[in-house]
Amino acid sequence: MTAVTADQSADQLPRPTRLSEVKGWFFTADQLLFDWFLEHQQDRSVAGDLLELGAYMGKSAIFLGARLRPGERFTVCDLFDSPAADDSNSKEMAKSYATLTRRAFEANYLAFHDELPVIVQGLSALVSEHVEADSVRFAHIDASHLYEHVHGDILAVRELLSDRGVVVMDDYRAEHCPGVAAATWQAVTNHGLRPICVTGTKFYGTWGDPERYQGALREWLAARGDVWHEVQEVNGAPLIRLSAKGAKEPAHPVSRHRAEPQRPAERQPEARPAEAGPAAGRPAPRPAGGALRRVALDVLPPIVTRAIVRARKGSSGR
Ligand SMILES: C[S@@+](CC[C@H](N)C(=O)[O-])C[C@H]1O[C@@H](n2cnc3c(N)ncnc32)[C@H](O)[C@@H]1O
Repeated sequence: MTAVTADQSADQLPRPTRLSEVKGWFFTADQLLFDWFLEHQQDRSVAGDLLELGAYMGKSAIFLGARLRPGERFTVCDLFDSPAADDSNSKEMAKSYATLTRRAFEANYLAFHDELPVIVQGLSALVSEHVEADSVRFAHIDASHLYEHVHGDILAVRELLSDRGVVVMDDYRAEHCPGVAAATWQAVTNHGLRPICVTGTKFYGTWGDPERYQGALREWLAARGDVWHEVQEVNGAPLIRLSAKGAKEPAHPVSRHRAEPQRPAERQPEARPAEAGPAAGRPAPRPAGGALRRVALDVLPPIVTRAIVRARKGSSGR
């Protein structure tokens, strides 16, 4: 374990003036649902921590961090610039996340929050060593999109989630990553995962009772009016399907760099139109400076992570 100092002085680090400038894949329907689930849990005093496997530059993590309550822990696990443990995962990293560095993630995150989350830099397969069983109320699985890794991530998260906990699977139906679809629906048919709802990009489920969420979610969707939805029967249980085309994004956390003129190098191709102001009741971040650090975890050297992956392959029995 090492203390990580976030160095925001380096010229090359990003200085996003708003969340849409942070590179990533986190769209309106899922922003609305993350917000809804986290607020719903808060209203019903569902206790527990937050967890993200696969943070990339921090887009969804920054959003999640804004819903962290006092005393809760937010753990983010990513390889960042560490080597992957197998050839397929290395190829995936080189193709999709070649420019990723942990320092860029940290600079982005600290543009919106005063403290970093707990960072586990390493394979998602190791996350159970750093998060207590039954302690998590909301987990976002968005690390490797290869079957073997996703399958392992789902089984790990099953142990980490509390009874009322919600798991979100990214890219559960995308053409380029059939392994995520296979692992997700396998978890439903073989490992007790119960679907709550789906968007075009993410699957939301629980190992508890999905009706605890579905009734209230349907009421909220009906009251909003701008989010199309329907209910389908899947494997003998209701599944809410929704699409938020044209719906208003929820309020985003506010960047400490918001008043600064944007540097040309930071203009991102996927930047979206102007966003709403600070969320009601959420304080705007303090100006940069001071001790912007939090204890973070540096995980095992690659040689150890490779051994763990090999051991898992040998014992998976799939
Ligand atoms: C799709 S991106 C995450 C996107 C992010 N959640 C967002 O919304 O912008 C996937 C991330 O998973 C990480 N990753 C890939 N394989 C991993 C593994 N085996 N363990 C941990 N992280 C991994 C990559 O470094 C990358 O940052």
